[in-house]
Amino acid sequence: MLKINTIKELQIVLDQARSQGKTIGLVPTMGALHKGHASLVRRSVSQTDFTVVSDFVNPTQFNDKNDLKNYPRTLDADCALLEKEGAHVLFAPSVEEMYPEPDMRQFDFTPLDKVMEGIHRPGHFNGVAQIVSKLFYAVKPDFAYFGEKDFQQLAIIRRMVEQLGLDVEIVGCPIVREEDGMALSSRNALLSKADRKIAANISKVLFNSRVYAKDHSLAQTEQYVVDTINSIQGLEVEYYEIVDGTTLQRVRTWDDSHYIVGCITVHCGGVRLIDNIKYKE
Ligand code: PAJ
Repeated sequence: MLKINTIKELQIVLDQARSQGKTIGLVPTMGALHKGHASLVRRSVSQTDFTVVSDFVNPTQFNDKNDLKNYPRTLDADCALLEKEGAHVLFAPSVEEMYPEPDMRQFDFTPLDKVMEGIHRPGHFNGVAQIVSKLFYAVKPDFAYFGEKDFQQLAIIRRMVEQLGLDVEIVGCPIVREEDGMALSSRNALLSKADRKIAANISKVLFNSRVYAKDHSLAQTEQYVVDTINSIQGLEVEYYEIVDGTTLQRVRTWDDSHYIVGCITVHCGGVRLIDNIKYKE
């Protein structure tokens, strides 16, 4: 696996791969890689001839300076994982390389960025769109892989590709969970052992809510999730919204859409955790 830090060097390697007729897969990450990221890399390695994994903690998507400062960085371990998964290039640029000058672009993904994370993390998706579009321009991938763990992000990336007229196929990949159901996340490493145990209740309640939903209304199910999680000491729901999986707008009844997803953000021990569950697809 090649380790590359500059766009120029990356493009030389990619031109060579392309001249050999190879298809290119891109997996954008912020590092601190785990089995969730590995599943995206594996998918790219199996579907394309040449897989680039970017490892870059993007400052413009952090609306909270402390969150950026505390974000886990484990480049050596990331390298080992990517070697094992058969990635061809690890692209780990500096902030100056990706932002030689401030990125003034303002994206508008209405209505997708006007709900949930878009409200609770102002500017977050604009930063995501800035970095992902820069990566798309630099790599020009045929396929790019994103996890359903960040459900709203995936919808916004699809929309961005349409808006910018980019020729890349976005592949959404299922959430990888720990044995106790907890969705894998780089942020889980920031939880104490005790909080990690408590946090497993988030997915447990979401899965239980699928059973509860069978004979309760959508509003009752929403309330059930919020009340049950809030009743667990150490957990505090920021929001829980049951939405149409495509428009991300709230639905009122189970008959309102054929694709219904519940998206949650919960605080646990000072860490912000997100997860989601499909009720209908
Ligand atoms: P990061 O949080 O590192 O996630 C990189 C990719 O891995 C995202 O597409 C995310 O949805 C996926 N992922 C994370 N945990 C997962 C899990 N448990 N199962 C499946 N996929 C999972 O998302 C970002 O970075 C950034 O916003 C980025 C897109 C790289 C732009 O900076």
